[in-house]
Amino acid sequence: MKRKILLTGRTGQIGSELLRLLPEIGEVVAPDRQELDLLNPDSIRRAAREIRPEFIVNAAAFTAVDAAETQEAQAHAINANAPGVLAEEAKKIGAAVIHYSTDYVFDGSKRTPYDEADSAAPINVYGKTKLAGEQAVCGAGVPHLIFRTAWVYSTRGRSFLRTILGLATEKEELRVVRDQFGTPTWSRDIAEATVKILAQLTSPGSSVANSFSRVSGIYHLTAAGETTWCDFARAILEEAAQLSPAIEWFDKATRGRSLITKQIIPITTFEYPTRASRPLYSVLANSRLRQTFGIELPHWRTQVHLVFELERSS
Ligand SMILES: NC(=O)c1ccc[n+]([C@@H]2O[C@H](COP(=O)([O-])OP(=O)(O)OC[C@H]3O[C@@H](n4cnc5c(N)ncnc54)[C@H](OP(=O)(O)O)[C@@H]3O)[C@@H](O)[C@H]2O)c1
Repeated sequence: MKRKILLTGRTGQIGSELLRLLPEIGEVVAPDRQELDLLNPDSIRRAAREIRPEFIVNAAAFTAVDAAETQEAQAHAINANAPGVLAEEAKKIGAAVIHYSTDYVFDGSKRTPYDEADSAAPINVYGKTKLAGEQAVCGAGVPHLIFRTAWVYSTRGRSFLRTILGLATEKEELRVVRDQFGTPTWSRDIAEATVKILAQLTSPGSSVANSFSRVSGIYHLTAAGETTWCDFARAILEEAAQLSPAIEWFDKATRGRSLITKQIIPITTFEYPTRASRPLYSVLANSRLRQTFGIELPHWRTQVHLVFELERSS
């Protein structure tokens, strides 16, 4: 019998890539928000009990970092309470939980990459709710993997990549923050790494509890290298300038209009006030992931090139 996987967040950046790739591991059941609403614990319980999956992959979240400051109850319900309910249900049916978290659990005071042993001390509501979600999953006594990732982008949905392309059709000069350091990570790379890891943990004849017994825990999972939002924006526009003829997702992001930005001006965080504070440095060290699973993501800049290159040649 094929193993069943319950996937949340099928429409999201990571979730949509997982929806495509997870069938390599088993039969994917991916309810949408109407069928499984993370704001409603009963709907989570009902879905878990009806589907009885072997894995629950939670790619859904309240990801609007600034909006979380004014919608704390909702962010907490989705990012903290819901993963706890998923984990409780997983425990009852002997399933493992795969969950995603964020570099924003750190305060950004370090200047060398954060590893999993560093203390989390979030400085915004989103980070606090995501940390509470991690704690709920870890504390449920269920086999689990929590992947902390960062600066996720994709060619669909709300993402920095598409925002910059949209703005570049409107403004000759873009002012982008130069003093926050992190690592842009392509959602497809995160999904591919997740599926490779699950493939390692699903060898025939081995139970979920056995496979996860030595590996349950938190892992940092980002591309290699580091940059700033400003240099990330520059990289996007460098790649976009090579793009001819244009392709479907690019046309959607630009609404078919030409890019007119001539210059990206680096500014400080102070010059770009946002509702939520953001860590000035949130680069994550990925050595635990490499040592445990032998998996390492490519450099962020290579992948920005690849996103455009793949779409160009497809
Ligand atoms: N985006 C980033 O830069 C970033 C950085 C670090 C970590 N992460 C983490 O990575 C994970 C995936 O992020 P992402 O960027 O792929 O997310 P995303 O694109 O914002 O998608 C969020 C998903 O969650 C679903 N969702 C939201 N509220 C829901 C609810 N009440 N019930 C059911 N589903 C709900 C959304 O469904 P609808 O389509 O119905 O809204 C959507 O499918 C999250 O855990 C996030 O915290 C993201």
